[in-house]
Amino acid sequence: MDLKPRNLTESIICLIALMITPKRCLTRPRVNLIPDCLLEIFSYLKDDRKTLFSCIRVNRLWCRLAIPILWSTPFKYYSQKYTYKIINTYITCLNTQDKVILKKLGLRNCIKNNHNNMKPLFYYPRFLEGFIIDNYTLGLKKWVKENFQNENLLRAQQIVDTMMMELIFNENCSLKKFKYVNYIEISRIELLKKLSNFNLSLINTFEFLGHGYTKEMYFNILPNLFNQMSKSSRNIKHLSFYFPKTISTTITTKTSIYNNNDSANLDLSIVNLIKSQNSLESFSTNEFWMKCSTEKIFNSLISHSNSLKFIKFFTLINFNQEFFKYIKQIHSLRTLEFKRFLFFEHFDSNLSNMIIPQNYLSQIQNIYFEENDIPFRLIDTIIRLSNHSLKRFYSKRILNSIILSSIKSFCPNITHLHISLEKSSDLLLNIIKNLPLISLYLQVRYNFLSLKSCLPISLQYFGLDSEIDQDDLDDLLNNAILPNLSILELLSISDINENFRNIFIKFNEKFNHSLKELRLEKSLLKEFILLDKKELWNTRSFKLSEVKNFKYSAYEEIFGCPYYKYT
Ligand SMILES: *[C@@H]1O[C@H](CO)[C@@H](O)[C@H](O)[C@H]1NC(C)=O
Ligand SMILES: *[C@@H]1O[C@H](CO)[C@@H](O)[C@H](O)[C@H]1NC(C)=O
Ligand SMILES: *[C@@H]1O[C@H](CO)[C@@H](O)[C@H](O)[C@H]1NC(C)=O
Ligand SMILES: *[C@@H]1O[C@H](CO)[C@@H](O)[C@H](O)[C@H]1NC(C)=O
Ligand SMILES: *[C@@H]1O[C@H](CO)[C@@H](O)[C@H](O)[C@H]1NC(C)=O
Ligand SMILES: *[C@@H]1O[C@H](CO)[C@@H](O)[C@H](O)[C@H]1NC(C)=O
Ligand SMILES: *[C@@H]1O[C@H](CO)[C@@H](O)[C@H](O)[C@H]1NC(C)=O
Ligand SMILES: *[C@@H]1O[C@H](CO)[C@@H](O)[C@H](O)[C@H]1NC(C)=O
Ligand SMILES: *[C@@H]1O[C@H](CO)[C@@H](O)[C@H](O)[C@H]1NC(C)=O
Repeated sequence: MDLKPRNLTESIICLIALMITPKRCLTRPRVNLIPDCLLEIFSYLKDDRKTLFSCIRVNRLWCRLAIPILWSTPFKYYSQKYTYKIINTYITCLNTQDKVILKKLGLRNCIKNNHNNMKPLFYYPRFLEGFIIDNYTLGLKKWVKENFQNENLLRAQQIVDTMMMELIFNENCSLKKFKYVNYIEISRIELLKKLSNFNLSLINTFEFLGHGYTKEMYFNILPNLFNQMSKSSRNIKHLSFYFPKTISTTITTKTSIYNNNDSANLDLSIVNLIKSQNSLESFSTNEFWMKCSTEKIFNSLISHSNSLKFIKFFTLINFNQEFFKYIKQIHSLRTLEFKRFLFFEHFDSNLSNMIIPQNYLSQIQNIYFEENDIPFRLIDTIIRLSNHSLKRFYSKRILNSIILSSIKSFCPNITHLHISLEKSSDLLLNIIKNLPLISLYLQVRYNFLSLKSCLPISLQYFGLDSEIDQDDLDDLLNNAILPNLSILELLSISDINENFRNIFIKFNEKFNHSLKELRLEKSLLKEFILLDKKELWNTRSFKLSEVKNFKYSAYEEIFGCPYYKYT
């Protein structure tokens, strides 16, 4: 290879480059890392900002190739310092007129000089492929706060935001991923109006999470945007909508001046958008549509019954057995996720009258119940309908023994079970013992029984959120046979003493160091690290980290960012 590393960083990069260089790049007798291959190497480093930053410094070619990757999704990460720098760099790309306006608005002196004189090496907005508006907005607010006098902060925010939007969204933008969240204090009406004029043909992931809109927005601007998008964007794979429930219920019932046609505009534009896609794979939504649009919405989804694998409902309102009829027709569906039900007291009783043949939803393999207020009847019905096909069952809803019994009878093939219970029971132990589990997460409030003889040997992940004392944990790990366990997650251990650390090291030695990661709740992690440092030698061979929080949802895996509710 013709690379001549000059320092340690570069040597490391060269080494990495060699390791991940695709074969065909190295088959020729004397090899230069030609740009194509370099580009491919860099693309592997897409999520490794630090290494990419080092690459920029190697030489001009490396820089020219790495910069676009580095700047393709600059808001995917958020840290105060990093995002501040990103915004700062974009600001340097503004035209002179804009910079003068900012100066008049009171942009601080020290920064001001920089902005006037420093011409950026690259026109960074050109490289943008993924835009995460919530992380951007946080960064923007911080930037404005640091660079402007206090009294006109809000106005400055709005103006800088508008300039940034002009910079980023123009006829040349080649966005592939767009996450939009509406922030009340920053009006983005102009952006939304403008967006419909652009060629958004490359978009493949589109999240639109809005709230608190005006009627004009619902009846005109948004329908117009989505209708236009249904002409320009055909390649959306992952689509997510959240509109407040007020559109379908409040507006139409409270104020009759809006005829149905207007209110249905949004529904129809979204039906158009869904239908016009080549092959939709994931769809998440709340029930924003009017009751009369239900069939149209579901039919548009059914038109993707060869590709649509994931559906999530943030909320469902008018739930009845029609729902199952629609879902059944989406043959490709594998994962169904629910967050919240409104007015479920109605359908709880109605559901019991439902006569639906079993195996009705046998295409579904994965079920996620993300929140705690989901009616038992529904959970039970879905389990029964999916007879024997379920592989993953996740429920934050605290399960009762009826549901446990249903799992026992109808789900012999579950490999991933993440559930929450009031107390453990023999029934639970019995179920766990007999399932081919790879992943088990248990949250038990009271009365935790020892699992030592029932944890399946196939487990690779085990998470436990239950008060357990250190001796019981020791006993559990001493006696359980878990040769493949690679991640252990613990949230609540009491009576910790100096043996705490050794429990895990002993366990890991027993199974040939298969444990790769120990995740602990924050305060446990602190104690562990304290004890860890006291040891003079380091005998542990597993990573330590803090417990993360997405146990009952697959949304983040698919959309790359968590859906979170902001009010
Ligand atoms: C779009 O790209 C064209 C050609 O590269 C360029 O002339 C034009 O100024 C760009 N427009 C914007 C708003 O950047
Ligand atoms: C939109 O952009 C794509 C590729 O970026 C191009 O192939 C297509 O022709 C454009 N469509 C219009 C209407 O300009
Ligand atoms: C509603 O739309 C239909 C067809 O799209 C049209 O025939 C009808 O006149 C409209 N009604 C109102 C009140 O605008
Ligand atoms: C539930 O059943 C009652 C009576 O059978 C009916 O009036 C009501 O509309 C049903 N609710 C739903 C949500 O289907
Ligand atoms: C459930 O599925 C199993 C295996 O596919 C089948 O044998 C059984 O008959 C089904 N049960 C019902 C009630 O449909
Ligand atoms: C489920 O497990 C049973 C054995 O318990 C097996 O016969 C069946 O084929 C499995 N079904 C699926 C869909 O994996
Ligand atoms: C453990 O993992 C190995 C390698 O992935 C696999 O071959 C083996 O069947 C697993 N053992 C159990 C008990 O699942
Ligand atoms: C332990 O792991 C090493 C390498 O990871 C392997 O060579 C050895 O056979 C394993 N021993 C047992 C008992 O599994
Ligand atoms: C910023 O984005 C990352 C990655 O999408 C996400 O994990 C994080 O929660 C976001 N932070 C905020 C404050 O939105």
